Amino acid sequence: MNSDIRKDYARYMWAPYTQMGDLAEEEPIVAVDGDGATIVDSTGREFIDGHAALWLANAGFGRTEIVEAAAEQMQKLSWFPSFGGMSNETAVQLAKRLVELTAPEGMSRAFLSSGGSEAVETALKMARQYWKLRGHDRKFKIISRRKAYHGVTFGALSATGVSQNRRLFEPLVPGFRHIEPPYCYRCPYGLEHPECGLACAEELARTIAFESPDTVAAFIAEPVMGAGGVIVPPDGYWQRVEEICRANDVLLIADEVITGFGRTGKMFGVRNWDVKPDIMVFAKGLTSGYLPLGATLTREEIFEVCLGKWGEGREFRHGTTYSGHPAAAAAALENIRIIEDESLVQRAAEMGEYLVEGLRDLSHLPHVGDVDGLGLLARLELVADAKTREPFPASELMGLKVNRKMLKRGVIIRPLGDVMSFSPPLVITRGEIDAILLALREVLEEI
Ligand SMILES: Cc1ncc(COP(=O)(O)O)c(C=O)c1O
Repeated sequence: MNSDIRKDYARYMWAPYTQMGDLAEEEPIVAVDGDGATIVDSTGREFIDGHAALWLANAGFGRTEIVEAAAEQMQKLSWFPSFGGMSNETAVQLAKRLVELTAPEGMSRAFLSSGGSEAVETALKMARQYWKLRGHDRKFKIISRRKAYHGVTFGALSATGVSQNRRLFEPLVPGFRHIEPPYCYRCPYGLEHPECGLACAEELARTIAFESPDTVAAFIAEPVMGAGGVIVPPDGYWQRVEEICRANDVLLIADEVITGFGRTGKMFGVRNWDVKPDIMVFAKGLTSGYLPLGATLTREEIFEVCLGKWGEGREFRHGTTYSGHPAAAAAALENIRIIEDESLVQRAAEMGEYLVEGLRDLSHLPHVGDVDGLGLLARLELVADAKTREPFPASELMGLKVNRKMLKRGVIIRPLGDVMSFSPPLVITRGEIDAILLALREVLEEI
């Protein structure tokens, strides 16, 4: 085993979302191997990956079928662009497959990119261009939510509602507004569902009215908020949001980067509430991480307004070199086949219930505040006092401490502040969930 690789990581890499200064005290995990829901690091330690890496290894690690599909593609045709009247056959096949899969939502066109931020950026530009081409020049504002995570590029970051991520990069893109999230455990209005009358959804209506509907292009939201703390909205929230968007001619963009491809126990997150967005954004579980890929799906009306002749200025002047990379498209097609053939969506629903029940069984422990989840996407919020819901002082870094103790027990989960989040591969076994729960029980008893 290569033990120096960890030193090289600390010496040569500038890693994303990492305080490199901490590495003197921490032992980084440099993975070298993976199978199912397990990974092995450079020192030979095995971990159950209770977080599917970054919420995305839906089909699990070590899927030779996906590897072979991508390799075969690269041997045949390594890459070919999709710009200006060209494309490659696998990108076209994937676009068709994605449109078929999202037919119940009414999607009819797929725009391919290389990851979540790019796919969000694409959605935001589609929305702005759509209204401009329809003659509504002032309809450019985008409403999103505090605690939302939509990515790191300037448009996606402007939609993101995690203030720590934004601060050092300001000024951001003009025209973005943020409303409160549907965070019932710590309701921003101090109300209780259902007596609250869905105040968080009504804030969307009030904000559109305040800004004036003829200035608002779109509302963007994750069906279940991920990085903001795994926030599952209350019943009726999504239906009301959809109604408000329709009533005000505001496009509804569902950011399904985490929730897509089975994660919440439905193929797509919006299916939990039968919502029909105007634009859907995918990445992560689309390839289960085997290759980078993003996709933005949209209705025909949004595509159609761009039709005309080159030079009239109606075409969508957007795209990156790797839009529709054939190897990534081949990996996605094989990944989707696996998700369907192995009924992984159904499995996520069943295993998710088992995981959340197991987490609820820990609710009697002193520092367990809230437990919630949908499919294999779950949260456990640590608090100083479960009765009053008083949080730990931020300086205690409790989530981080619990996480380190979990790592020592060979389990990877993810601390989002003091919310411990769970998002394992959809192939995780009951035995592996039991091992995660046992490790967590021990750690919670220890703190
Ligand atoms: C909901 C959501 N949207 C967008 C993104 C950005 O995706 P990427 O990191 O692939 O750019 C993420 C990443 O975690 C995400 O969770």
